[in-house]
Amino acid sequence: LRDKAPLHYDAKLKAHVLSRYEDVAFVLKNHALFSSTKIRIAGKLQEERASVKELGSVSNLVSMDPPVHTRLRGLVSRSFTPKQINAMEPRVRELSRELVAEMTSRSEFDFMDALASPLPVTIIAEMLGIDPVRRRDFKRWSDNLIQSNNATLQSGETPEEVIRSAKEMLAYMTEVAEARRREPRGDLISLLVQEIDGVAALTPPEVNSFTTLLLIAGNETTTNLLGNALTALIRNPGEYEAFRRDPSPAACSAICEETLRYDSPVIGLFRRTTQEVEMSGGKLPADTSVMVLLASANHDPRKFPEPERFDPTRDTHGLMSFGHGIHFCLGAPLSRLEAPVALRELMERAPRLGFSPRQPQDIDYGGSFFLRGPKSL
Ligand code: HEM
Repeated sequence: LRDKAPLHYDAKLKAHVLSRYEDVAFVLKNHALFSSTKIRIAGKLQEERASVKELGSVSNLVSMDPPVHTRLRGLVSRSFTPKQINAMEPRVRELSRELVAEMTSRSEFDFMDALASPLPVTIIAEMLGIDPVRRRDFKRWSDNLIQSNNATLQSGETPEEVIRSAKEMLAYMTEVAEARRREPRGDLISLLVQEIDGVAALTPPEVNSFTTLLLIAGNETTTNLLGNALTALIRNPGEYEAFRRDPSPAACSAICEETLRYDSPVIGLFRRTTQEVEMSGGKLPADTSVMVLLASANHDPRKFPEPERFDPTRDTHGLMSFGHGIHFCLGAPLSRLEAPVALRELMERAPRLGFSPRQPQDIDYGGSFFLRGPKSL
């Protein structure tokens, strides 16, 4: 695609697909030409998904353009400052240690179930201030929401169970938001519903759509990053051995950054043209869907030499895995904290992991066309 068809029309997605680093960056930077609103995937409007309607979240941060996006991004950014994220390190370490200890008490385990998946969802639940007795429900709701996101995108249908989860979660989050408005605590929801330094609070529907977005955007992605990192290490014994000799925090971060580039947890993003645009030797009509392939941008040799080599010592500056421009991932600092900390705990307790003989040669990636990570490992 990058060499022969940098502007490729995919009939099934009904979208123009861009794969070169420069083109991907151009699209994401020019949000006035490439809107995040009214996105159509395979001809279907994203807002038409049942689970989204049930949640009352007609629109959320990722599907907004300025100036609406600017206001909301400003509001929620105050709960994701580097200071707040860094303060979570001891808790992330403690939880990682517990999960790794539990996992490695068995000789064979599913890394995804035992560590990669529970770590981010528990941290988000704690950040939001979800009552510990509701954590199990919360995990079920978020699993269902993520599943719905994948299932709906592929089949266009939303399972009953998912709609029920969406309703339950909406009721619970509305209750929590109301309680925190009356009596704030030190959690994220309290921050979102309070007026701080003259900056208005989020409205109840905004709180709901934002917490849903955090669940979808923040969980499976970090889970995938961890699964992809372990896969890359096991498949590259030389790099695994070098990491074993130096499992320093810097080395843990380097493994995660190179994994983000080499095996991007988010494969691509969608936009819609607001006018006719000329690029890569072709023309994009106005009001058409565009898919930018982040994973391909990360493998463009024009930007990253020898892209098919997993090399944790390389310069990964400019990787596209968290997007680019005004929608750049809000949770990047959080996953850049969680994944290296989890890897370090893993290296301390279990420095020599390998695939079980029961692990299929071809890892099951679940078949989503926009998220990528092992279903089990
Ligand atoms: C946005 C990837 C983790 C919250 C994005 C975007 C990407 C991305 C590509 C841009 C979407 C667009 O431009 O349309 C990732 C990856 C992650 C990760 C690869 C982990 C490895 C997280 C976490 C959170 C989070 C942990 C929160 C807890 C968000 C939010 C946005 C976003 C709120 C929307 C920002 C906006 O529209 O202004 N993420 N993400 N993400 N991400 Fe992440």
